[in-house]
Amino acid sequence: MQACSPPTWETRIDGRSSAAPSEQRYPFGERLLTMDPLIDARGINTYYGASHILRGIDFSVGRGETVGLMGRNGMGKTTLLKSLMGLVKPRSGSVTIAGRDLTGAAPYMIARQGVAYVPEGRGIFGNLNVTENLKMAARAGTRGQRDWTYERVLDTFPRLKERLGHGGQQLSGGEQQMLTIGRALMTNPDVLILDEATEGLAPLIARDIWRICSLIRQTGISSVIVDKNWKHVTQITDRNVILVKGQVVFEGSSDELRGDPALLSQYLGV
Ligand SMILES: Nc1ncnc2c1ncn2[C@@H]1O[C@H](COP(=O)(O)OP(=O)(O)OP(=O)(O)O)[C@@H](O)[C@H]1O
Ligand SMILES: [Mg+2]
Repeated sequence: MQACSPPTWETRIDGRSSAAPSEQRYPFGERLLTMDPLIDARGINTYYGASHILRGIDFSVGRGETVGLMGRNGMGKTTLLKSLMGLVKPRSGSVTIAGRDLTGAAPYMIARQGVAYVPEGRGIFGNLNVTENLKMAARAGTRGQRDWTYERVLDTFPRLKERLGHGGQQLSGGEQQMLTIGRALMTNPDVLILDEATEGLAPLIARDIWRICSLIRQTGISSVIVDKNWKHVTQITDRNVILVKGQVVFEGSSDELRGDPALLSQYLGV
């Protein structure tokens, strides 16, 4: 198991060395990882009433990094995401986004720093159609980037293209999930947080969501992926974090996790 300190290395996926300024753009097929953390949470303690849920969690996401967050039901994954997003206020600890201390900041402030959150159970506007849902979310990213346009989102989700005039409520579960992710991309985020994006979806649709996660990763957007399917998660993550009862019990590479059946069994019950 690796120590849970913030990563400090810097590398390019294609193996070539790079001076990697953090403002650098990320073309397709040349993913750049810099471990200058985009999200850096330290010593997070979160309570619901008297229940102490998160117990001193450190959690970071580097620029361009894809992090898997796993753990059995009720271990605190969603609570950690909500604590990062300002939806639940930690009782102690700090949340820094792109170098700015945003501890206790409102969710819209966190979102403005380039963090897009796709919550459990989706949450599209049921009475708006696909086009309206997407166009309403459009904005430039933190560096003024407008890489994700309406047209590009539709090219990424061809199923949505066939449903443009349909209201959110008329879409299947998989289409709703695609719309939620598409809407998050319309904000041109630096980091995309997905909480159980494939939950309850038919295998073929889930596979499409994984394809899109992989594609998003290739564009250089950082991601945090919460999902029960560790096999899929570890295929696209650079680093994985496992929670047990509100504490980080494992932090390591996908190879490390996949190669340790005892650990998978102990912490994930597989
Ligand atoms: N709003 C709430 N009020 C009180 N307790 C809560 C609330 N939300 C979650 N909890 C409790 O906090 C703990 C952590 O829940 P959380 O939803 O963060 O877990 P999770 O790892 O996301 O689980 P799952 O895999 O089922 O989504 C659980 O014991 C849960 O019952
Ligand atoms: Mg959850």
